[in-house]
Amino acid sequence: MKVSLILAIVSLLSAFSANASLDSSIKAKGKLYFGNIIDGNTINDASVTNLLKSEFGAVTAEYSWKWPRIQPTRGVFNFQESDLVLNWAVANKKLIRGHTFVWHQNIPEWVNAITDKATLTAVIQDHITKVAGRYKGKVYAWDVVNEVFEDNGSFRNSVFYRVLQEDFIDIAFRAARAADPAAKLYINEYGLDAAGPKIDAFLALVGRLKSRGVPIDGLGTQSHLILGMVAGVPAQLQRLANTGLDVAITELDIRIPKPVNDAKLAQQQLEYQSVIEGCLSVSKCVGISMWGVSDRNSWIDTTIPAFSAPLLWDNTFRRKLAFTGVDAIVAN
Ligand SMILES: *[C@@H]1O[C@H](CO)[C@@H](O)[C@H](O)[C@H]1NC(C)=O
Repeated sequence: MKVSLILAIVSLLSAFSANASLDSSIKAKGKLYFGNIIDGNTINDASVTNLLKSEFGAVTAEYSWKWPRIQPTRGVFNFQESDLVLNWAVANKKLIRGHTFVWHQNIPEWVNAITDKATLTAVIQDHITKVAGRYKGKVYAWDVVNEVFEDNGSFRNSVFYRVLQEDFIDIAFRAARAADPAAKLYINEYGLDAAGPKIDAFLALVGRLKSRGVPIDGLGTQSHLILGMVAGVPAQLQRLANTGLDVAITELDIRIPKPVNDAKLAQQQLEYQSVIEGCLSVSKCVGISMWGVSDRNSWIDTTIPAFSAPLLWDNTFRRKLAFTGVDAIVAN
């Protein structure tokens, strides 16, 4: 009796004295999650998964849920890697952000070659029905369409827009709602971080979707940011929230122009803080997902090599100033 009482007190005390995670801290502020990405390249890397388990409450698959991985050939579905991510998230009790169905990049050639409306409509519907259906009830939110605009606010000249014009968006959202009625359905985009033609076009589209009764629940702002260019973020988050839909920061990183030095890392800390504060101050901003744990695994160095060091942990998984800054904002 005495021993079990003492054990209970000890475990209670250690629960309070342990550092709160980013996820538990942001939940205490009324948000749903602080998330990150996972995929085949990191799922067996304990330095990544230990941080995902301890600090984050949601995961997005970086690539393995995208079209060419799941349906490389028409009618041939491969869920091997996407199931690994799903199963990891379920086993570790993480929310899942499903990403993504309709994106101009990273689509198989057989989709790009379609030229008629009926075929493309059926193909979009079939892909979404199969994938959302397989994971029905397990996915918190789906990025149904991704990056439909050019930076100047024109629709991208994708196969989807060429063949179906704006209708491809309606078709995709309706198919997703039918396949998994409980999942929150998002439109996801980058470059919504500053005033300009892109966010204007995005908000105008959202207005049209709502007026047509398209089942849309949320707006994802990727927030792949550049050091020195984040000042507009809080105001634009508020504009997105003014639609009445949920808003999520879905792919956050702040890349540093090379060479990386101490002054830039200190500035990165402050800029991360202002982005996190932006979400905290907007009640419709439901959560934040980072696009990577350690700088070692980030897409930036390979894809945009003039930049580096965009994340909260460095190449050796040590906490950066950016981590300390984010932790202080969500914990206080
Ligand atoms: C917008 O940008 C795209 C891509 O650079 C270009 O093809 C298109 O002509 C531009 N549209 C306008 C109206 O400037």
